[in-house]
Amino acid sequence: MQTRLDKALAAFPRADVLQGATRIQRAERLEQELGLREQGVGLYLKRDDHMHIGGGGNKLRKLEFHLGAALKNGVDTLITVGGIQSNHARLTAAVCARLGMACELILTRSVPKADTDYELNGNVLLDQLFGARIQVLAKGGDSLAAAEHRANELRAAGRNVMVIPTGGSTPLGSLGYARCAAEIAQQEIELGVHFSEVVIPNGSAGTHAGLAAGFELLGRGASTVKSWSVLADQQTSASRTRQLTQEALALLGHAATLAPQVIHIDGSQLGEGYGLPTPAMIEAVHLMARCEGLLVDPVYSGKAFAGLLADLRQGRYRAGDNVLFVMTGGTPGLYAYRDTFSQSL
Ligand SMILES: Cc1ncc(COP(=O)(O)O)c(C=O)c1O
Repeated sequence: MQTRLDKALAAFPRADVLQGATRIQRAERLEQELGLREQGVGLYLKRDDHMHIGGGGNKLRKLEFHLGAALKNGVDTLITVGGIQSNHARLTAAVCARLGMACELILTRSVPKADTDYELNGNVLLDQLFGARIQVLAKGGDSLAAAEHRANELRAAGRNVMVIPTGGSTPLGSLGYARCAAEIAQQEIELGVHFSEVVIPNGSAGTHAGLAAGFELLGRGASTVKSWSVLADQQTSASRTRQLTQEALALLGHAATLAPQVIHIDGSQLGEGYGLPTPAMIEAVHLMARCEGLLVDPVYSGKAFAGLLADLRQGRYRAGDNVLFVMTGGTPGLYAYRDTFSQSL
């Protein structure tokens, strides 16, 4: 049955880079390790880290809608921005390679980390393999202004350029995760499970905003989503997420004012700042690897999983609850943090 959400989403052009739903699997060994079975709590993983292109990750869902608009407008060059180890930049480079577009990346040294692995390995190595042209800015540089400047240069030379802002987190990009809410609802029917909460990291807020807008339109409510902020403090993250959720809803033809309390964000895993490791993140990366043979990244999903572990250990969930942790990808980042992990082994 086509829902109101499906109908609203169908109005937007989308490039199908995902090629189908990502898997949901039960984290049985983690459930055992954390004593969740005895408590009657189920833990499931949505494998948005496992996709067909570029190493996978949450940014591909947003890029589907950005690319839909780009292809419709005959764009031949994409420019985007991010940190040196931006997963969004890497995936933009990968989809450009697949679609035969040129890709330019304006990367900022936003994390106080300058070792060789951080500067040259992980995502930045892959950006180059995918054929992107890279320009690096010092900390505090205005990457969007630099992107617009470069776009104008290229336009003057006859190119048709589109600039995608940080993380692809515009109302249009967020629709990728509104679509994911519909995908999760369909998988619930297939699996015979109801997820009481969907847990994610929050950086530029598009993932949270899209899921929240999607669940709102499905009648489940934006509060189905809980995120752990890894870029900004809790308050900044919450107001940005609420604003973007409302903009995404408006784009989908639903003009509602959301109460602040329906946007659930916890800022307690941020630590000393964006991209800076915490002991809880290191433990979370180890636990996921050793119990499930799966990888979470040091900047986003590692901190969010650390937050979820804290909630599970504190007994925040009740018997009968099923929690869905969205694995958002970013594993190339592990290679950029070799120093952090080799110290912890
Ligand atoms: C691996 C990974 N997970 C989560 C996020 C956060 O998503 P959002 O920026 O939509 O909040 C990002 C953003 O860069 C990411 O790269």
